[in-house]
Amino acid sequence: NWTNSAIIDEQVAAIREQVGDRRVLCALSGGVDSSVAAALVHRAVGDQLTCVFVDHGLLRAGEAEQVEKDYAQLTGIDVRTVDVAEQFITALKGVTDPEEKRKIIGREFIRTFEAAARGIAEEQGIDFLVQGTLYPDVVESGGGTGTANIKSHHNVGGLPDDLQFALVEPLRTLFKDEVRAIGLELGLPEAMVWRHPFPGPGLGIRIVGEVTKERLDLLKAADAIARAELTAAGLDRSVWQFPVVLLADVRSVGVQGDGRTYGHPVVLRPVSSEDAMTADWSRLPYELLARISTRITNEVADINRVVLDVTSKPPGTIEWE
Ligand code: XMP
Repeated sequence: NWTNSAIIDEQVAAIREQVGDRRVLCALSGGVDSSVAAALVHRAVGDQLTCVFVDHGLLRAGEAEQVEKDYAQLTGIDVRTVDVAEQFITALKGVTDPEEKRKIIGREFIRTFEAAARGIAEEQGIDFLVQGTLYPDVVESGGGTGTANIKSHHNVGGLPDDLQFALVEPLRTLFKDEVRAIGLELGLPEAMVWRHPFPGPGLGIRIVGEVTKERLDLLKAADAIARAELTAAGLDRSVWQFPVVLLADVRSVGVQGDGRTYGHPVVLRPVSSEDAMTADWSRLPYELLARISTRITNEVADINRVVLDVTSKPPGTIEWE
């Protein structure tokens, strides 16, 4: 596509001009924006770019592998994964309040990224930080620079003074659909480029109740089924997001085979939206909902009930926490 390759050429030239022969750091989240931004920077300055991927264990099944393996292999980018899943579980132990969870996850994330960034800066010297800021973010923040996605994603404060780098923002003039088109043109996988929006605190705010390793595994299994069936039905792009929520502190009685079960419910929360400010519950086909329900209750031990959230936003938010 001519338009997309023209945009890529233009951004690549601008990045080379800005960066010269200096070094660049980027935090990958697994999301569309940081993936495309990093791929663009890599196209421009190659191995002057180093990426950090904080694997906090709160992404969905397969997503960390997608970043670490598929994306890194495909692009050739030096991706340094920091595996802190256990650290996050420990920090979240006993915590049930949604805001408290967000604070803890944001804080741990920034700490982890900071330590990694400091290490890399000492090793090779870093001059720039890549941010996947889009045009609508620029407009929303009044046109100023420095609206770091890393922080807004987690609603926390910025990095310390000694880690203040000049920003490289190759998506600053682009809208989401352009970013997707460019991502495809750069050869990124469709699943990554069309990934639904996903909250910074990840599955941590899709478990109502305390976050534990066991509960995360349950939710990841149920979520993977819902996602796979949505994709198989060809309806990925008909919904804005499709959160699956584990009601970890709720149990209900069920029956399976000859036995009584006493398991947890999951909530399906497919929504349609333009900008996440307002949303409506998606009218997914009954057949699809039935398949998801049957598969989850058959395949995920301990989940014996699947319910559908039919609340619009407002009054309900998209996420449950
Ligand atoms: P709510 O639940 O408020 O969500 O209707 C609106 C949109 O924002 C996403 N979301 C977040 N994104 N950090 C993020 O980057 C967060 O802490 C966060 N909380 C919610 C949510 O998935 C939806 O797209």
